[in-house]
Amino acid sequence: MKVTVSVIKADIGSHPGHQRVHPKTLEQARKSLQKAKRSGKLIDFYVTHAGDDLELIMTHRKGENNREIHKLAWNTFEACTKIAKRLKLYGAGQDLLANTFSGNVRGMGPGASEIEFKERKSEPLLIFMADKTEPGAWNYILYKIFADPFNTAGLVIAPNLHDGFVFEVHDLIGHKKIKLSAPEEIYDILALIGTPSRYVIKRVYTKSGEIAASTSTDRLSLIAGKYVGKDDPVMMVRAQHDFPAVGECVEPFAMPHLVAGGMRGSHNMPLMPVSEKDNHPTRFDGPPRVIGLGFQISKGTLLSPVDLFDDVAFDRAREKASEITDYLRLHGPLMPHRLPPEEMEYTTLPHVLEKLKKRFKKM
Ligand code: 13P
Ligand code: 13P
Ligand code: MG
Ligand code: MG
Repeated sequence: MKVTVSVIKADIGSHPGHQRVHPKTLEQARKSLQKAKRSGKLIDFYVTHAGDDLELIMTHRKGENNREIHKLAWNTFEACTKIAKRLKLYGAGQDLLANTFSGNVRGMGPGASEIEFKERKSEPLLIFMADKTEPGAWNYILYKIFADPFNTAGLVIAPNLHDGFVFEVHDLIGHKKIKLSAPEEIYDILALIGTPSRYVIKRVYTKSGEIAASTSTDRLSLIAGKYVGKDDPVMMVRAQHDFPAVGECVEPFAMPHLVAGGMRGSHNMPLMPVSEKDNHPTRFDGPPRVIGLGFQISKGTLLSPVDLFDDVAFDRAREKASEITDYLRLHGPLMPHRLPPEEMEYTTLPHVLEKLKKRFKKM
């Protein structure tokens, strides 16, 4: 029998400002999902947060895009928003762009990543959740894990990884998707995913079609047509045996690569891997943070997770991320610290430029 893992997330308000989900809203989320577990709707769940984003990790037997599961997530976010409003938390209900639920959270504000599979003899599943960045932030990471033999030794020395993987890339602006094969087409893959604001890796499959990884690709500004918050993404990666080892999956995070989304969703900053406890981006609303939880799935149950970046071996990556932040901050409001103009279209910058329009003289 197949199991589905659904990770559905939303920023429903935080404190202080955009830093961290409030314990009272986390408690409400756990209560809602506990009730759904008792009624048999869910097999299991885990509630956590990535900075100011509330993350619902749920296992069930209903498949992807299931109305009942999406409604459960939506109702949970609404119940949490009610508390956030009562506490006057910052940005209460920020990501709930629609007024009423209409069948699926996609296109309504929350982000979702779902994966359905037949449980293997042993099923390690890694869930990564980030704040102050966008779905394209996973491009570098997924390419390294599934296509770069300098990261993943198994691509060279493990027979079951040696054939490579298939990347499903989505064009978020053109609303198109394409499947490309690694290693045969790595230059084509890189030609696309080198533009992470537009082309994002949605799924990765083995050559025999087994799902290996899935991301959330929802972009709030493209839904709302204006800046409402960043599209802080999630990603799931299956590990071991026919997939890369856990250590190969976390290895790319040792390089704090630059991602878009720091401060007002308008700055490039390094992605800092942190433990659940360090998971609040305070400095310049950053640096963007990522947490990783490693679960074993057992008959749909989520065995208590390992906090993957709660590891001294990632101290250097964190230090480097701070150093890069020092350097980038010296650029102040200038590019390439600030995002390029196309990305600023959805922010508050156009209002400032509008004010100057009449003062421009022909030359
Ligand atoms: P598997 O082939 O069982 O995934 O083991 C590889 C491994 O863990 C090496 O570190
Ligand atoms: P969030 O998208 O995480 O709410 O952050 C908004 C922001 O602009 C912080 O500077
Ligand atoms: Mg926020
Ligand atoms: Mg956020």
